[in-house]
Amino acid sequence: MGQQPFVKNNIEIASDFARDTFQGLSAVPKYLKSKYFYDSEGDKLFQKIMALNEYYLTDCESEILNHQKDELMNFFRDSNTPFLLTELGAGDGQKTEILLHHFFNESVHFQYLPIDISSNVLNLLESKLSADFPGLKVKTYAGDYFQALDRLNKEENGRKVLLFLGSTIGNFEHREAVKFLQSLNKRMDDHDQLIIGFDLKKDPNVILRAYNDPSGFTAKFNLNLLHRINRELEGEFVTDNFYHQPTYDPSTGEAKSFLVSKIDQNVHIGKLNTTFGFKRGESIFTEISQKYDEVMIHNLAEKSGFQVKQIFYDSKKYFVDSLWQKSKKSIV
Ligand code: AVJ
Repeated sequence: MGQQPFVKNNIEIASDFARDTFQGLSAVPKYLKSKYFYDSEGDKLFQKIMALNEYYLTDCESEILNHQKDELMNFFRDSNTPFLLTELGAGDGQKTEILLHHFFNESVHFQYLPIDISSNVLNLLESKLSADFPGLKVKTYAGDYFQALDRLNKEENGRKVLLFLGSTIGNFEHREAVKFLQSLNKRMDDHDQLIIGFDLKKDPNVILRAYNDPSGFTAKFNLNLLHRINRELEGEFVTDNFYHQPTYDPSTGEAKSFLVSKIDQNVHIGKLNTTFGFKRGESIFTEISQKYDEVMIHNLAEKSGFQVKQIFYDSKKYFVDSLWQKSKKSIV
């Protein structure tokens, strides 16, 4: 975000998506950034994925929030002084509603401040919440997480409880995750709290099934990146000439997704004024969904200036939501 436009074959490439696509498809090996999954098509496909039985993450985290909502309330409430429940990547707020319901019924003093890249998603959420929770103070922030948090910190003063659910952190490689969490740490005060979701290492077959569902929604979700290039950048991908390939390395916990070329082919992308060559069997790396264990979670917290206060598991121990606070001796 906020990078300079650059000139390629005398064409000014202005959008982040265009620039990142050019860089990713020019790299060896090729990659595309997973944040571009989420256009309106991708949002719909991700909703479908979340509803799948194979995609255990949703049910596990809902179970945790349902079982721990009272305990969480007590952690957040702090002698019932008001707090700002601030959610990063709120989406449709389905899981958060478990907490909102409980806090609302228990007359907890809080406001809800969802942050999301998509203002469309936030508008839908806002009207749903005003119907379900009359009187709940909701203020939405559209945009980049950190820019939104900076705005929020200027406009509101109060204790923050940050929600970063769904193992979204898993979409970062380790170093990027540390950088991201350090930036978050800088925008928090000592008494603020962070609830962060992590998907755990488990039977590799369970993980592979979650990212390769038989109904094919995950494959469609992955291939949507090529459709999006076709739609927005005048790409000429024949998407049937690629297939979705997930992998999981149980030693590192890295679940990765690739798009693999079925044939030798050239693909022109009009807005990039470039033709990219793909060999049969050549891959485009599209996503990492890192799986963790407790040692990795503590390590990540420590490296980014946090202390792990509490870890909440689901009954299968597939997933955790953990409660973090800034560590006293801040390393950041
Ligand atoms: C939204 C990043 C948590 O990595 O599990 C689901 C996205 N990708 N199926 C994940 C996703 C393929 C999801 N996160």
